Amino acid sequence: MTAVDTVPVARPWLGEEEAAAAVEAIRSGWVAQGPRVAAFERAFAAAVGASEGVAVSSCTAALHLALVVAGVGAEDEVVVPSLSFIATANAVRYVGATPVFADVDPVTGNLTAKTVQAVMTARTRAVMVVHQAGMPADVDELRALCDAHGSHLIEDAACAAGSTYRGRPVGAGAAIAAWSFHPRKLLTTGEGGMLTTGDGRWAARLRRLREHGMSVSAADRHAASRPVVERYLETGFNYRMTDVQAAIGLVQLARLDAIVARRRELAARYAYALSGVPGLQVPQDPPYGRTNHQSYWVVLPHDFPVTRDGLLHVLADRGVSARRGIMAAHLEPAYGARPRPDLPITERLTAQSLILPLFHDMTDADQDRVVAAVQAAAAGATASSGSRP
Ligand SMILES: Cc1ncc(COP(=O)(O)O)c(C=O)c1O
Repeated sequence: MTAVDTVPVARPWLGEEEAAAAVEAIRSGWVAQGPRVAAFERAFAAAVGASEGVAVSSCTAALHLALVVAGVGAEDEVVVPSLSFIATANAVRYVGATPVFADVDPVTGNLTAKTVQAVMTARTRAVMVVHQAGMPADVDELRALCDAHGSHLIEDAACAAGSTYRGRPVGAGAAIAAWSFHPRKLLTTGEGGMLTTGDGRWAARLRRLREHGMSVSAADRHAASRPVVERYLETGFNYRMTDVQAAIGLVQLARLDAIVARRRELAARYAYALSGVPGLQVPQDPPYGRTNHQSYWVVLPHDFPVTRDGLLHVLADRGVSARRGIMAAHLEPAYGARPRPDLPITERLTAQSLILPLFHDMTDADQDRVVAAVQAAAAGATASSGSRP
């Protein structure tokens, strides 16, 4: 990268193998959901320690279907973090239920048993925990809480492929987990998602629901030697993944360990280089797991010399593309009509945080530019806007 290029905030690691796999799927004549989707489901489920995988068109679709099979409906409440991409809360509304926002741990940014318990009611039917930016949440304590309460624990693992929890992949032991293959995630299929579960009956229903509620999938009808007439057993959706996407996903999945290792190496280099910035909070493994560093999410101290938006300007002025940190759904107009919940940690984290560039083929020089910009701001260099009075 030359000095004039912008350092992007993220860039998927895609190569000739993915291109060849997509071409091969196209040449096969089978481009909709078919054998490559089935192979990708098996491989992905095995990689995250689940017995069943059901590929869908996005993680948002996966979250929607998870709530449907969990039986969540109109009178129900679902506890979610506000500190998450808006899709987490929106999925709850898709089934007519009410998202109830719980606060998060200040270090991991994730729900905890304590924050969830504080907002649970007799109407709570499910808890949707997010492994935010790949940081594993402490799901054992949440599982125990949900079991005692009689509610479902749904894991929004959109960002968490390759993260671990108590020595096993995030997703192992999950009743149901939803994954994303958007290009900002470690593995990408362009757009795409997956559900993993240990429940065979849920998996069978998820397969029907993603395909209009059909009793026999289009792929199975095609493979049958005799004509098969399908029935439509319930109102379903078109949430299918294509074989072109799955072909890319299979190649990407084989890269997962290398991607995680590289991201952890870059994250360690950032942590060392930024350790001299007073009060800056950088992502760190919790005692019970390891993050995949899907995003390098840092939190500024209150007395940082420039505001968060000011720092984004400093970075932009130096050719570094960064982003605000994780959003908070309850502060968005779509959720604005609600009484404002009491979420002090969420509000501090969303206001004070930003995401620094991190991508597989990031060079030392790219990273040094980012670090130099943060250090300059910390030393009081003013941005085009946003310096503190
Ligand atoms: C935590 C979380 N949940 C859900 C989603 C939605 O994923 P998708 O874009 O695959 O629908 C995202 C995407 O950024 C996310 O970060």
